[in-house]
Amino acid sequence: MDDKVYIFDTTLRDGEQAPGNQLNMIEKLEVARVLEELGVDIIEAGFPISSPGDFESVVQISKTVTNPTVCGLTRAIQKDIDVAADALRYAKHPRIHTGLGTSYNHIYYKLKSTPEEIIRRGVDAVKYAKKYVEDVEFYCEDAGRTDNEYLARVVEAVIAAGATVVNIPDTTGYCLPTEYGEKIKYLMEHVSNIHKAIISTHCHNDLGMATANSVLGVLNGARQVEVAINGVGERAGNTALEEVVMALKSHPALNIHTDIVTPNIMRASKMIQRLMKSPVQANKAIVGKNAFAHSSGIHQDGVLKHRENYEIIDPKDVGVDESSIILTARSGHAALKYRLQLLGYPLEGEELDKTYQDFLKMADAKKIVNDDDLLILVGKDKKKRERIISIEQLQVVCGNSMIPTATVSLKVKDEVKTETATGNGPVDAAYTAVKKIFAENNIRLQEFLIQGFNGGCDDSGRVSVQVECNKHFYQGLGVDTDIVTASVEAFVDAISKALE
Ligand code: KIV
Ligand code: ZN
Repeated sequence: MDDKVYIFDTTLRDGEQAPGNQLNMIEKLEVARVLEELGVDIIEAGFPISSPGDFESVVQISKTVTNPTVCGLTRAIQKDIDVAADALRYAKHPRIHTGLGTSYNHIYYKLKSTPEEIIRRGVDAVKYAKKYVEDVEFYCEDAGRTDNEYLARVVEAVIAAGATVVNIPDTTGYCLPTEYGEKIKYLMEHVSNIHKAIISTHCHNDLGMATANSVLGVLNGARQVEVAINGVGERAGNTALEEVVMALKSHPALNIHTDIVTPNIMRASKMIQRLMKSPVQANKAIVGKNAFAHSSGIHQDGVLKHRENYEIIDPKDVGVDESSIILTARSGHAALKYRLQLLGYPLEGEELDKTYQDFLKMADAKKIVNDDDLLILVGKDKKKRERIISIEQLQVVCGNSMIPTATVSLKVKDEVKTETATGNGPVDAAYTAVKKIFAENNIRLQEFLIQGFNGGCDDSGRVSVQVECNKHFYQGLGVDTDIVTASVEAFVDAISKALE
C-alpha cells in the first residue's frame, strides 16, 4: 500500500497576495471550483482578518466547495482566530491555520519576544483555535532558518496542544534540498508525539529550489505539501503544484501518491495564467508551451520512433493534447468530439450536435477555435439551457456622434418583454434596458468584469458579473465574440439565478 501526500493549495492565499495577482470574488470562486475538480485536499481560501474581501472569499468558498477542506490563515492572535472561525462557519471541513515566527530573526527582531514566550503563544493559539474547529494547522514561520533543536520543541508543544498538522515553512526560500530534507528527518526522529500530526512542507522559490525542497521533505516524512498553481506567490513564488505532483507520480518506486486528477492540470494552469494575467514562461516545467515540444531533428526522430525516448510524462496525463489538430469552421463533428473529450467533456448525440452548431458560429467569427474557447462554449451552452431568461433580440446603435441606444427583448419564462434605453456606452444602454424589464425585482449590479481570452480583435469577450437581489448575491457569466451580447448574457445569467 503506498502513502498519500495531501495537497494543500494556497493559490488563493499566498499566491494571490503577490503583486498583480489579485482576483475578485467571481474569479476566486471560479478558481475554487477548478481546484475542487483538480482534486486538491485543502484550499487555503484567504487570511480573513486581513481585509473584508478576504473574509468574504473564505465565506463564499466555504459555501461553494464540498470535498476539499477550506482553510483560513491567522496570526497567533485570538481576534484573528475569532474572525477566521466566523468566516469558516459554512465550511463542510473547516481548518484554522495559525502560527508565528520561530527563527532567531523572527523571535527577536520581528516579534520582540523570547523562545519560551513563542512556545507559550503558539500553544495558546492552538488551544484557542481548537475551541472552534477540530482541524488546526500550526505554522512555524521561517522554520527554514530555525535551529532544529528548538523547532522540535515548538512542534512537540503544539502537537500536544492539539495541532493536527504542523507546517514547516521555508519562508525565505533559503534552504538547500538536503538541508530541508534533514530538517524534516530530524523532526520525525526527535519529536516524541510526531505520529499524532501530519508534517507539512511550505517552500518558497527564492533560490529556485522550492520543488526540490518539497520533494525532499516528502521523502523524509512530510505528508502534506503546500503549493500553488504555476508556483504563483510572494517574490519568486511558492512551490508549483504541478511540479511536485508530477515528480511524485513519475517515480512510482517511491510508493507515494496524491489524489490530483492530473489531466486537469493544464486547465487549472491556463485559468490562473488568464485570471492573474501572468503567463508562464515557454520552458516552464509541465505547463510551459514548450514543455512537450520537440524541435531538434534528433529529438523529433527519437520521439516518433518511441515517445518515451525523450518524454518522461505522457502529455495527455497533464491535459496537454499533443496532437496539433487546429479547429476551424471546416472541422467536423469528430474533431470537435475528440478535442472536447480531451478537455473532460465527452459529449454525444444531441448535446454534441447542439455544441457543434455553436462551435460553427464561433469558428466563423474567430477563424481558429482553441481549448479556452471550447471550454467557454461548453459552459455557455449548458447554462443557456438551464436558464429561465433568454435573449430574444438585442439591437444597439452607438458611435462617436450619437447617444448609445439599446433595444433588448428577453423571453422570461414564456413571455417576451422589450425595453429601449440610452446609456453612456452600448453596454450601459443595454443594461439600463434590462434593468427596466426587471424594474420590480430590486436587482442591483455589484460587479462587472470584461476580459479577452487570447488577444486579437476577433477574440471572444468573457464577462463576469455579480448582482444583488434582496441581500443575496448571484454570479453570471457570458461569452461571445460580440462584447455587448456577452455582457447582456452575463447579466441575464445572474438575474435568472436570482429569480429562480
Ligand atoms: O511562507 C510562510 O511562512 C507562510 C506562512 C504564513 C504559512 O506563508
Ligand atoms: Zn508562504
